[in-house]
Amino acid sequence: MEMQNEKFKMKNLFRKNFHLYSFVLFLLFTIHCSLFTVVHAADAGKSRPLMPLPSNPPIPTDNPSGANVYPSKMDAKQELGYLLFFDPKVSGDGSISCADCHDPKQGWGFADPISRGYPGTVHWRNSQTAVNSGYLNKIFWEGGTTSLEAQAPVAATGGVAGNGSPDMMESRVRFTPEYVRRFKDIFGVEWPNMDHVWDAIAAFERWLSQPDTPFDKFMKGDKNALSVKAQKGMEIFKGKANCIQCHNGQMLTDEKFYDIGVADAPEFEENGIQQVTVRYQFYSKGSAEDVYRTHKSDPGIYFKQKRLEDRGKFRTAPLRYLKYSAPYMHNGTLFTIDEVIEFYNKGGGVDRWGNKAKILKPLNLSKDEKEALKEFLLSTSGEEIKLPVPKVPDYAPMADWQPRK
Ligand code: HEC
Ligand code: HEC
Repeated sequence: MEMQNEKFKMKNLFRKNFHLYSFVLFLLFTIHCSLFTVVHAADAGKSRPLMPLPSNPPIPTDNPSGANVYPSKMDAKQELGYLLFFDPKVSGDGSISCADCHDPKQGWGFADPISRGYPGTVHWRNSQTAVNSGYLNKIFWEGGTTSLEAQAPVAATGGVAGNGSPDMMESRVRFTPEYVRRFKDIFGVEWPNMDHVWDAIAAFERWLSQPDTPFDKFMKGDKNALSVKAQKGMEIFKGKANCIQCHNGQMLTDEKFYDIGVADAPEFEENGIQQVTVRYQFYSKGSAEDVYRTHKSDPGIYFKQKRLEDRGKFRTAPLRYLKYSAPYMHNGTLFTIDEVIEFYNKGGGVDRWGNKAKILKPLNLSKDEKEALKEFLLSTSGEEIKLPVPKVPDYAPMADWQPRK
């Protein structure tokens, strides 16, 4: 009896408060729903976080080399690549090496807005730093090449870069006694071939890495590695200035493609040889006659598929070694980090093609905020990587060569 009474009371209580209960349930449901929306809205604008570099770039299994990077001692393959990187034998007329456009004294790039070219030409883009290139999955301003082994031959044979004939370059390497010796030791071959040349150069480029900048040390937990100002700059980078939307991950690039409205290089109007190069590039990348005769703006990844919506898009530039690699952007039109920050503070450049990234808006950064942002951008560079120009092996008659019996 007692028990039944209790049950009855409970039932009644529930009935009485039914509206209250359903209201609470409804409330919980609404809160859950709005939380869900908030979380997902945040997700939509979410980017990868910033990350430190691992201690060495990934090493492909088909081109093994040491995991050691600058400043530790190179292994034999890396050292061979060092020689070849500085050796003009790897070019058309035997006068220009990779290092002439990727000069250690010019941030392992070239300090003119537009790079020098193969003798008799100028290039049409800014030369990028070779430092940390081993960590990139997409190489070049158009990001169209995916490994250093594949990048090197493009550079050595390109009409305004190395302009070399592979057979000629191979003969030069094959008949340089010291190279023959070194290639035999490293690759076990009687005669060097160009694939080994690209492999060795790539191994050297992987050695040319800088994974221990103040930024990297900070990200790995050393809270004293960055000044308070640089830390504030990092917050601005991630927050108010929203650079992280595109510049994120280990190399501070999402390796995606955007038009940010970089202005045309003035060189086109000033220099006949520059016009020749631009026409040549349009032509050799398959543009129709009315296009290559009349266009002067670099349309970036448009060349890949000739889609109008790709015009003006370039790979998000990695933001490392910036301290030494000015000027900036695909055509070097921004000379200093201050100019870069001013460019973004105004909301990027001109929307020439209607493709400009929508998220670029005027930032209204104060003087202090700009200073802090700059301090942060400088923190992804360590000490300058200075290497002497090596003495490259000379041609010599091959004394131990014997005619076949
Ligand atoms: C005549 C100048 C010149 C020579 C010679 C040259 N380069 Fe370059 N290099 C450039 C320019 C300019 C770019 C950017 C071109 C582009 O993206 O369209 C570049 C881009 C690169 C990149 C891409 C970096 C990145 O951030 O994606 C690497 C790596 C590189 N070169 C390595 C080499 C190697 C290795 C050699 C020698 C085999 C070489 N270069 C020879 C001018 C040169
Ligand atoms: C919409 C994506 C996007 C955003 C947002 C963005 N960038 Fe960039 N950034 C790029 C692209 C793409 C390039 C290469 C553009 C070109 O050369 O035409 C670039 C180039 C750069 C370069 C030149 C690097 C070099 O080696 O030449 C710097 C420096 C830079 N950005 C810094 C910043 C800073 C600082 C912010 C925030 C204020 C920012 N970026 C916001 C996409 C972006």
